[in-house]
Formats: sequence, C-alpha cells, structure tokens
Amino acid sequence: MKILAIESSCDETAAAVVEDGVRVCSNVVATQIAEHRLYGGVVPEIASRRHCESIAAVTEEALEQAGVALPELDALAVTYAPGLIGALLVGVNFAKGLSLASGKPLIPVHHIRAHIAANYLAHPDLKPPFLCLVVSGGHSHLIEVKDYTEFRIIGRTRDDAAGEAYDKAARAMGYPYPGGVAVDQAAGRGSPTYRLPRPQVEGSSFDFSFSGLKTAVLNLLNQAAQKGEKVRKEDLCASFQLAVCDILADRLMRAAESTEYCQIVLAGGVSANSGIRARMESECRERGLQLFVPPLCYCGDNAAMVGSQAYFEAQGGRFAGLDLNAAASMPVDQAYF
Ligand code: KG4
Ligand code: ZN
Repeated sequence: MKILAIESSCDETAAAVVEDGVRVCSNVVATQIAEHRLYGGVVPEIASRRHCESIAAVTEEALEQAGVALPELDALAVTYAPGLIGALLVGVNFAKGLSLASGKPLIPVHHIRAHIAANYLAHPDLKPPFLCLVVSGGHSHLIEVKDYTEFRIIGRTRDDAAGEAYDKAARAMGYPYPGGVAVDQAAGRGSPTYRLPRPQVEGSSFDFSFSGLKTAVLNLLNQAAQKGEKVRKEDLCASFQLAVCDILADRLMRAAESTEYCQIVLAGGVSANSGIRARMESECRERGLQLFVPPLCYCGDNAAMVGSQAYFEAQGGRFAGLDLNAAASMPVDQAYF
C-alpha cells in the first residue's frame, strides 16, 4: 500500500511516499527554521504563510523522488492534530483538496502517533506492545503503546515540554533557536559542575516538570550577571543535560518496572539528544531491556513517520471524510475516531 503523507503541524513543510508503513520511497522536508530564528521562536502566522507557499512544491518533489504519479497511490495521509492550528489547517486543506480531486481515500494522523511510528521505519523487528517516551518541542509523554492504534498515557509534563525547556535554557545562554542541538553539543565539551534541581511531581511517579529546571538556569545566569561573574556555558549545558537525563531516566525506568514492558522506545525531536540516547542505552542494558531509538533523520518533524502511522490507521479502516478538521490539541489516546 503506497501512501502520500503530508505534515505541516509546526515549522517544517513535509511530504513523503511510504509503502506498507515501513519502506520510505521519498521524504522531503522544507524547514522554516532560519526565518523563525530571527524572532527567537516559531511565529505561528509566518509558519502558516510559508506552509501555503511551499506545500504544493514539496508534495510534487516527494512524488517525483518516489517515481510515482498521483493515480498510482493507494491513499493520502495528513497530520491533523496536535500543533499550531493555522499551520495544521494548511496541510489538512491541501490534503482534502488532493483527495477530492484524485478520489483517493484520506487518512488522518495524530502527530505524536507519527513520532512513535518513526521507529517502525528503522526497526522492522519492533512491534507493539511497548513503552514509549515521547520527548519533543511541544510534548513530553510516557505512553503505553498497546497496539499500532491503541495508546494509554501514563505520564506527562505538568508544564514545559523537554524540548521547550532545552530551547528556553539555550536562548538564555545566547544560543539561536532551536537551541536543543547547541546545548547537546556544548554539553559534550563541558562537565556537570553546576547544581541544578530535579523537580518531582507530588502524587505522581511518572509525570515530569521541567519549568523549575529551566527557571534555575535563568536564575543562575541572572545572578552571575548581577555579580559580574562569568558563567562556564559548556559546564552549565552539561549540568542541564544531566538533570534532564536524570529526570527522564527516573520516570522511564520506574514506568518500565511497573508496567513490565521489555521493549522501550524513544521518539520525538529531543530523542536526537546524544546524552539522552546514551543514558537510556545504559539504563536499559543494566536491566536487560531492549531499547529502540529512531534514526536521527526521523527524530524531528517529517512526513515519512506520518506515512508509516497512516498505514496502520488504514488497516483499522480509519479514514476521514471531507469534513476532517484540524485540532490544536488532541490526546494521543483519544484521536479522531
Ligand atoms: O519533534 P520536533 O521536531 O517538534 C515537535 O513536534 O515539537 O522537536 C523539536 C524539538 C526542539 O525543541 C529542539 O530543540 C529539540 O527538539 N531538539 C533537541 C535536539 N535536537 C532537536 N533537543 C535536545 N538535543 C538535541 N540534540
Ligand atoms: Zn514533532
């Protein structure tokens, strides 16, 4: 089954052709990062406009690189939630138009489900059920993936997402948006010599809280500036990264122990982080758990992961009509159907 998938939930316009949920025939991503960087973060109105400008060309490029024409496809798929509403609407309306014009069925895909499915593209041996830690710019969730389209959220962030905390701490240290990669690289050159908090969420073993950690970084920088002291940025990055790793490892390993899953999966843009990957690798090895991480090219937003999840949604007959709407927020376990 060949699916043309479209993704426009944030600041990447992407299209891909994916066969049977696992074979990527093409994967085209047009990023808007350079423009949003001027403002220190994603400007929703600019994101929507750029999606409008590039979506047709990105889609044509994906078809061309895959060597398929529209009539040869079995279905179309689009990310309909969650994300920036104006950005999502561009992809959803474009996909609906294409579906109407071509007569191809349309599969609505939840963005977080797609991030999880990025793992199926690289690990043919990975099959649900498993426990997944999703860490991205907008989301931090611990999810039981009971089946390809059956999910249960067992932990979540109470405030900032992990990527958001990375980007805000990075910005305060003077790194350009999105600062996650810069902090990761700087951390590799520093030592974790600053003391930073590991906030716990009262009454929950699996929830996260990152805003206190981010605020601790901002306070440390402000106090140093007031006293005229120099901050060793690379050491601060290493300290921040260690705190994030400690928090994520604690919740993920507790959840693994309590749910007894032996397959552990990482997903989302922050799963590209070298410290988090190495830490989860050693935590899982110690406990005899099998860890799956997406290849770096499928960690951030892309449409290949949307095409993968779409295949599994289609197996369950989950198609949308032309009344499909976008939604800015939508829990992963209560998707469209
Ligand atoms: O999944 P994604 O592309 O978008 C959302 O769905 O939110 O994630 C983007 C986030 C950004 O916050 C970015 O800074 C972060 O992923 N990120 C990283 C790394 N690479 C990307 N954070 C930490 N370390 C990295 N190596
Ligand atoms: Zn994403």
